[in-house]
Amino acid sequence: MTKTKTHFVCQSCGYQAPKWLGRCPGCQEWNTFVEERVVEEKIPERDLLGFESGMVPTPLSEIVSEERGRFQIGIGEFDRVLGGGIVFGSVILVGGDPGIGKSTLLLQVMNRLASKEKRVLYISGEESLQQTKMRADRLRVSSEHLLVVSETSLEKILQDIQTLRPFTVVVDSIQTIYSSELPSMPGSIGQVREASSRLLYLAKHLSIPIFLIGHVTKEGFIAGPKVLEHMVDTVLYIEGETTHAFRILRAVKNRFGSTNEIGVFEMKDSGLVEVLSPSEFFLSERTQPPSGSVVMPSMEGSRPILIELQALVVPSSFGVPRRTAQGVDANRVSLLVAVMEKRLGVQLGHQDIFLNIAGGMRVEEPAVDLGVMVSIASNFKDKVIDPEMVVFGEVGLGGEVRAVSQSEVRVKEATRLGFKKCLLPKQNQEKMKGTRGTELIGVHNIREAMKVIS
Ligand code: TYD
Ligand code: MG
Repeated sequence: MTKTKTHFVCQSCGYQAPKWLGRCPGCQEWNTFVEERVVEEKIPERDLLGFESGMVPTPLSEIVSEERGRFQIGIGEFDRVLGGGIVFGSVILVGGDPGIGKSTLLLQVMNRLASKEKRVLYISGEESLQQTKMRADRLRVSSEHLLVVSETSLEKILQDIQTLRPFTVVVDSIQTIYSSELPSMPGSIGQVREASSRLLYLAKHLSIPIFLIGHVTKEGFIAGPKVLEHMVDTVLYIEGETTHAFRILRAVKNRFGSTNEIGVFEMKDSGLVEVLSPSEFFLSERTQPPSGSVVMPSMEGSRPILIELQALVVPSSFGVPRRTAQGVDANRVSLLVAVMEKRLGVQLGHQDIFLNIAGGMRVEEPAVDLGVMVSIASNFKDKVIDPEMVVFGEVGLGGEVRAVSQSEVRVKEATRLGFKKCLLPKQNQEKMKGTRGTELIGVHNIREAMKVIS
């Protein structure tokens, strides 16, 4: 009698070990090992990709390139994030917290394709046909070209795709799909990997783009996002708070485009709606700005977005003052506060500082530095910043204000939305030709900046 062989597999990164381990040596995560039966690695059939078995290395110059082409879905924000549309044969992982709107977004995308008379297939492993129908009714989606199936068997799904030859496929979600050839549970790393790799081969082979939905959060996850991220061509995340209406679609990996672009959507009763002018959207609730509120033009990829920074500075009731930041890096804020204390002589050592970006947006670029300082100073001194002014610039440890990229684009967006003044690095101002409608106030250091606002 043969003994069943098992091994332990990290559910986060796929690391294999003969014994159970508390912490994975591969990805340093705790308590991620699960026992799985050893399955013999199947060597993928070569002819599936059309390769000869004995491939010889070829000079790059002699390889004939095959332009697979892109297809625009027609939802501008979605196409933008993909890098200008979907590439045939690509596999796209769409991740995000449960309830964030993954199924909603992809059902809308499929509907858009179906309305162009493309036959598309939506595989729902989580919801019954009735549930999907209810969602579709809510989204007012109905088309004879949109085929829906409630199925979790990988073999059956592969079969369906091969016989139907749809234009695109959505698998909702990859964690519910299982192959009967593997003994492990649906959702385990072995299953997720098996299902993804076989779908990947099929996508390349038939040149059909496949969207895989995954319950994946940036830090936590259910199964194997790291493994998946390596395999697929594109990884998109839907971000946002379930308490806020807006959602950001972000590419964190894209073999066919830039990863800087974002798409902005708003969750409404009838589904996700594109936000065509995010600046207006984020500033819509700013009517009578109090002290501590300042607007800054931030770059998201190639697009400027105006955001509102808010600061609250209050005397600290504990020995150690609190520094809480939402939407900006808290460590960066602490550093900027230290620069303010040293270079401006303001005493913030006994003050709690809270910073927030209105609307739940997140900004990671250093151009936000000057805005952070201005908003803290404004609230600390209880002095309202001119509501018609925008602020941007990087700040160094010496208190110098450094130039940032794409200043023209930032100023243009501010002008478009009716802002009359712009506080910016002197170097940026000197390089810029005249701007119509917005006065440029260039500063060398934070001292000069503080003079402008007081
Ligand atoms: P869903 O797409 O099911 O999330 P996911 O697939 O990422 O788990 O979205 C669920 C949430 O979206 C739910 O809280 C209700 C909300 N919603 C709307 O606000 N409007 C709509 O038209 C739809 C379909 C959902
Ligand atoms: Mg869903």
